Amino acid sequence: MAITLEPEFVGRTYDDFLFRPQSGVVTTRREVSLQSRLSQRLTLELPVVSANMDSVTGARMAKTMALEGGLGVVHRALSIEAQAEAVAKVKRSHGHVVERPLCLPQDATIREAREFTRRHNITGILIEAGRGSNLLAGMLSNRDMPWGRGDDDARVAQFMTPIDELVTGPPDISVEDASRRLFERRIEKLPLVDAQRRIHGLITKQDIILARQRPYSSKDAKGRLRVGAAIGARGDFIERSAELLRVGVDVLVIDIAHGHSDVMRAAVEEFRARFPEADLICGNVGTGEGAAFLRDIGATGIKVGIGPGRGCRTRLETAAGVPQLQAIREAWCAVGDTVPIIADGGIKDDKDIFLALVCGASSVMLGSMLSGTDEAPGRVIEDPGSGQKRKIYRGMTSPQAVFEALYDDGSEEAVEAALDVPAEGQEVQIPYKGSVVDLLHRVRGHLRSAVSYGGANALADIRARVLADPLRYLIPLSEAARRESYDR
Ligand code: XMP
Repeated sequence: MAITLEPEFVGRTYDDFLFRPQSGVVTTRREVSLQSRLSQRLTLELPVVSANMDSVTGARMAKTMALEGGLGVVHRALSIEAQAEAVAKVKRSHGHVVERPLCLPQDATIREAREFTRRHNITGILIEAGRGSNLLAGMLSNRDMPWGRGDDDARVAQFMTPIDELVTGPPDISVEDASRRLFERRIEKLPLVDAQRRIHGLITKQDIILARQRPYSSKDAKGRLRVGAAIGARGDFIERSAELLRVGVDVLVIDIAHGHSDVMRAAVEEFRARFPEADLICGNVGTGEGAAFLRDIGATGIKVGIGPGRGCRTRLETAAGVPQLQAIREAWCAVGDTVPIIADGGIKDDKDIFLALVCGASSVMLGSMLSGTDEAPGRVIEDPGSGQKRKIYRGMTSPQAVFEALYDDGSEEAVEAALDVPAEGQEVQIPYKGSVVDLLHRVRGHLRSAVSYGGANALADIRARVLADPLRYLIPLSEAARRESYDR
């Protein structure tokens, strides 16, 4: 049943409240659970999602986000094939089993093999009997590769370890047995084959070590990293969805500027007719009515945020928008926890994440905060004068992002769609921040501390208490209190 929005939230956003500390129960921060739902189907151990923006989430960011317990949503400003390849790359990496390992035929040349390992950043290639035969003939690891360039035109069959000398495993081998075989035989890679030598997968030592080190990673039932991908609401979106689902995407995100619209309704109807079971987050909306609308048309997650983002100009250009904490609270008052809410945009500091979560969101989506990291697409630019390092971050409707998407896609439809959207985004330069792994480590630590100040040892626990009676926990700030809190 819908709850009425408390007047104290009207016009409010993150810097408008502090959290009243409660009597603490945590002895060590490590024991604090941050588990929370992303959608009706998925739960994350770190409820942080990287934004589907071309300066934030490609395969590398998505992979790291999932390894750290969050999730990346691969942007859609690229061709269907390129987006599906990015998703496939994440699904292929660091699962217990690489289901469709990369292969070369035994008549490929050493030159091709060198190029192949460089392009895919792998250390060993499965060699199949004939191109596309899926029959294992051997394996070519970096150690087998001839030195010097004299043998570049030779065939890989000449240098590979043939199957009779390879340690392999059956397709249904358990993780424990696979680890034992890898460690006992001192090998890095275990190809999985059946009696007919058909290739069923590959298990690598690196993946097993990584899985042990990070029990909190976001993984599917087969132990593969989870990944999301954005789709539009028109044009090729059904074809795009079909391809993304085919390569194993875990969740799709229909991401349009105005999600509370007939365009969204039509898109979800068409999508559901074709993919009734798929996990489908929809957005963006900024009101309770918008959230209820998305719930009613069948969204499994609701993305909330109209114009709070660092790269957004929507509020400046159109006056449309809702202060972000009000939007989150409104959405939660309308739908409760029936459909999880993703707070998207406007998060500048770690404390904003906690406030978003206890006011109604189940996860947060970050754009600018994660941009500027090594894992975000784009090069590091060094200012010749100051020596300062920076990376580009840009709104997806910024003229620069639109131009590049057109360049990549180039279809008449894309050109028309782009020209139809007035620029509501901008490009900014963000200081270079190093690895997103360190940043997420910091976020995880601060979130755990916040939960501990809340007198709980699980985010879910303090969240439930605040949701039921927010004004008992949140202190509205005066201008002076804000200065005292944030001016440093
Ligand atoms: P932050 O503040 O985390 O925000 O950088 C990320 C979110 O910003 C949204 N976004 C846009 N909004 N015009 C907009 O009005 C744009 O061009 C644009 N590009 C991204 C998006 O919701 C993202 O997750």
